[in-house]
Amino acid sequence: MFRRLETTAGEKIRFSYEGRDIVARAGDSVAAALLAAGETALRETAVSAAPRAPYCMMGVCFDCLVEIDGVGNRQACVTPVAGGMQVRRQRGARVVL
Ligand code: FES
Repeated sequence: MFRRLETTAGEKIRFSYEGRDIVARAGDSVAAALLAAGETALRETAVSAAPRAPYCMMGVCFDCLVEIDGVGNRQACVTPVAGGMQVRRQRGARVVL
């Protein structure tokens, strides 16, 4: 569905999503890196657990919420990817401690 432009350059960065090793490029947002890796459903709704994919890619729709390094409600489309990040799908509403 999504693929990188052949002209895309940049240092390779590794992070994990749901335990899967993902290779991104420096400057990617978490959402862009996951879409390029074939991951489309990043969260599940709180009421029906329906899968949601990033939609606006500019911080407006909140359909890209993920858990990053144990912190929920992170917008994957406006969060730059960093090496070693542990990203997980957000299931339902964030648990506030
Ligand atoms: S894709 Fe819409 S806020 Fe991230």
